[in-house]
Amino acid sequence: MTTTINGASHARNIRARVAERVARLRHDGHLPGLATILVGDDPASAVYVAAKRRAIREAGMRDFHRHLPQHATQDAVAEVIDELAADPDVSGILLQLPLAAHLDAAALIDRIPVTKDVDGLTTASAGRLARGERGLRPCTPSGVIELLDAEGIELKGACVAVVGWGELVGRPLSQLLLRRGATVTVAHEFTTDLAAVTRPTDVVVVATGVRGLIGPEHVKPGATIIDVGIHRTPGGLTGDVRAAELDGIAGRITPVPGGVGPMTIAMLLVNTLQAAEWAAEQEAAVPA
Ligand SMILES: NC(=O)c1ccc[n+]([C@@H]2O[C@H](COP(=O)([O-])OP(=O)(O)OC[C@H]3O[C@@H](n4cnc5c(N)ncnc54)[C@H](O)[C@@H]3O)[C@@H](O)[C@H]2O)c1
Repeated sequence: MTTTINGASHARNIRARVAERVARLRHDGHLPGLATILVGDDPASAVYVAAKRRAIREAGMRDFHRHLPQHATQDAVAEVIDELAADPDVSGILLQLPLAAHLDAAALIDRIPVTKDVDGLTTASAGRLARGERGLRPCTPSGVIELLDAEGIELKGACVAVVGWGELVGRPLSQLLLRRGATVTVAHEFTTDLAAVTRPTDVVVVATGVRGLIGPEHVKPGATIIDVGIHRTPGGLTGDVRAAELDGIAGRITPVPGGVGPMTIAMLLVNTLQAAEWAAEQEAAVPA
């Protein structure tokens, strides 16, 4: 029997816990707020930003949003980031990616102060993760860890294959897993025998952007499969895993949609709250 991991339900629990902590912070005069920045009118990006803003409001946090035109210059976007960086009411800043080709995304991301980097994508946040220092971690990988924890899957000593070494998911996730005591093997587009890497492992996390890459030939019976991929098809959303073919083989599997996706938004709320709590701590530490 294969169990479907209900990411939507785990995400709801996290969001409810965040809302409780937000209410306490509000009471103490430290209401958290997230600023989302959308450049242009890409429909998928607009949908993602709208979902994030809705979740922020539902958690009782302040929703600051900036929408810039598609042709906005590097300086114009930088100016908005700097303004939000200086605003004490803004706990977190999220620059929705991808940006138009004329913009230097890496330079703009790095203008976000590390204390407000709720997407965990700045060079400073990546460095803190690599060194195991306090910091905000990228939302999708930390959502994967939360899901595994919520399902009671022991990571210490587990053999985990991470398929995909992208900056957004695979790379930070492999570091988070190592810090939790897992033995991590990372596969990528140049891996010659993918099944030989994934088949011995207890957990396989797939984040490649290759639709239906992983099937029964890649999976040990009873293994846990986490599918991070998202593909829009005429029949709806689907992932990097051929989930139907793994029924009865995998021990547990995340669905697409309803698996990792909702956890990503839940972790954005967690990060925004965390940023606000750290800002409040710092304020309290400054002598009057
Ligand atoms: N669920 C979510 O909330 C969420 C969030 C972020 C990304 N995603 C999805 O996750 C996927 C990966 O995103 P990303 O930003 O990390 O992508 P990326 O393009 O940065 O990285 C893709 C990785 O996959 C590897 N790869 C490509 N083909 C491969 C193959 N045949 N075999 C093994 N590895 C292969 C590449 O080497 C690369 O390391 C995408 O489908 C994206 O839509 C989902």
